[in-house]
Amino acid sequence: MDPKPIDLNKLTGIIEAHRSKKWSLIPLLQEVQETYGYIPPETIEPIAESLNMHPAEVQGVVTFYAGFSLKPKGRCVLKVCRGTACHVKGSRSILRHVKKELQLEEGETSEDYQFTLETVACLGACFLAPTMMVNRDYFGKLNPTKVTSVLGQYSKNKEDEG
Ligand code: FES
Repeated sequence: MDPKPIDLNKLTGIIEAHRSKKWSLIPLLQEVQETYGYIPPETIEPIAESLNMHPAEVQGVVTFYAGFSLKPKGRCVLKVCRGTACHVKGSRSILRHVKKELQLEEGETSEDYQFTLETVACLGACFLAPTMMVNRDYFGKLNPTKVTSVLGQYSKNKEDEG
């Protein structure tokens, strides 16, 4: 499924706010990502032009930093920890369970843009191993039953909104 067209008018305001600042590429990209949820490819050229850069340079920065994404992510971004502490406590079976429940592989987004599945090296909450995050919320001491209930909670929120 193709992502929805974006409102480029928002981009003009973001560019204007950053235009006069030195070293403004990263903060500008951060704001674009906060606004659209990702860095839409069609924003690369206007951003480069506003900073007198080549589009390939901007593209290079976007692909270099793991925090930037050129693809839209789901409303709920799941980060399952695969660090050592979590590995010891069974994170592999947690990841397997999440994949099965969501029918997604790592790095994939569901067709309805509800979920994106990612893995990370450590969520900094090893004492709660095995852990995962959904957007900004931490979930620890996971087991398959708990994972199912967390995922159900986020799917339910979607139904409530609809
Ligand atoms: S290893 Fe998983 S939170 Fe640190």
